[in-house]
Amino acid sequence: MKNNFPIFQNNPDLVYFDSAATSLKPASVVLSEMEYYTQYSANIHRGLYQISGKASESYDQSRQIIADFIHADSEEIIFTSGTTASINLVAQCWGQQNIKSGDEIVITQTEHHSNLVPWQQLALAKKAKLKYIPVTSDFLLNLKSLPKLITPKTKIVALTHVSNVLGTINPVKKIVQAIKKLNPQTLVLVDGAQSVAHFPLDVKSLGVDFYAFSGHKLYGPTGIGVLYVNRKTYSSMSPTTFGGGAITEVFWHKTILDHPPFCYEPGTPPIAQAIALSQAIKFIQKIGWHKIIQHEQDLTNYLFQKLNSISHLKILGPGNNNPRLGVISFALTKPKSPAPHDIGDIISQKFNIAVRTGFHCAMPLHHLFGFNTGTTRVSLGIYNTPKDIDKLIESLNYTIKIFS
Ligand code: ALA
Repeated sequence: MKNNFPIFQNNPDLVYFDSAATSLKPASVVLSEMEYYTQYSANIHRGLYQISGKASESYDQSRQIIADFIHADSEEIIFTSGTTASINLVAQCWGQQNIKSGDEIVITQTEHHSNLVPWQQLALAKKAKLKYIPVTSDFLLNLKSLPKLITPKTKIVALTHVSNVLGTINPVKKIVQAIKKLNPQTLVLVDGAQSVAHFPLDVKSLGVDFYAFSGHKLYGPTGIGVLYVNRKTYSSMSPTTFGGGAITEVFWHKTILDHPPFCYEPGTPPIAQAIALSQAIKFIQKIGWHKIIQHEQDLTNYLFQKLNSISHLKILGPGNNNPRLGVISFALTKPKSPAPHDIGDIISQKFNIAVRTGFHCAMPLHHLFGFNTGTTRVSLGIYNTPKDIDKLIESLNYTIKIFS
């Protein structure tokens, strides 16, 4: 698998455990971007010349491939720059016209800042109430709280599919059903940044209204993201940014906007990135979900077993007998143990191992569980191997020894 990722040719010793921050890119994705820039680098939907036609066709095809990948229709796919932009688009384009003073917005205590701050700021601006689905001491969402939390005033619930800190997979379908039963008018947005590369998605079966994800965590390029909008929800939103490519007619004092998704994509889009993202999807499909899921599950079990052999190591997240992914955050609790930043620094310098350290853009969640100096996070991708894990454990034992 590592042979598919050119970065390992330039960094043969690299052990990459930061796929939750961004995944590495296979050669087919890198080549796709290069092909666009070297063979048909033109703007889309604007030129009548040949290379512009090819660029437009490839870009449009990419939208269809992405739609098929998550079981949506192509007009339900808005291209954005990433998950953060997708969530902000909903907070603005839907939130500005639907949230009023006294309304309620519900999120969870496990959210990444990108699915917390936009709602917090919207609630502050509109004098709405922001409420949280609590997380249990077992690191699962407390779904028993829903009947109390969801009221006739609940306008939207925004939750992550997989926590970028805990690794917990939330039972989205069950949660959506429970919410819609309590208040059929409540919309549900799911942050899929951490799920999309790890198991298949069917947005229709999940019953969500919005689903957001990034290309760069899906073995695709940076700078491209997706917002799925259930077609019927378009009628309750309108664009908040404007420009070329998003209109049908413009007059001195009025404009006729194009239909969705195009009215939400003003300006020149990330063309090369959108095209290359479809190559990332083809790469995943070629391997097959079955193999990806099995490989990551085996590695997660092995990682748990090895981490548990280190004394005074506390995992911030559920055990591997729960629905979870290979995103494991931990801290060492013995006095004089290395802090997360010491670990990240030493294992990088001495062993060329990449992990993320700190709060992982989920500060309130860390404080809630008393991990006040953050955690070290190991997150797995399809290129990781048991040998990588052995090297990690060796590097952790080495770091602990230095500090003791
Ligand atoms: N959201 C990314 C992470 O969790 C950057 O690391």
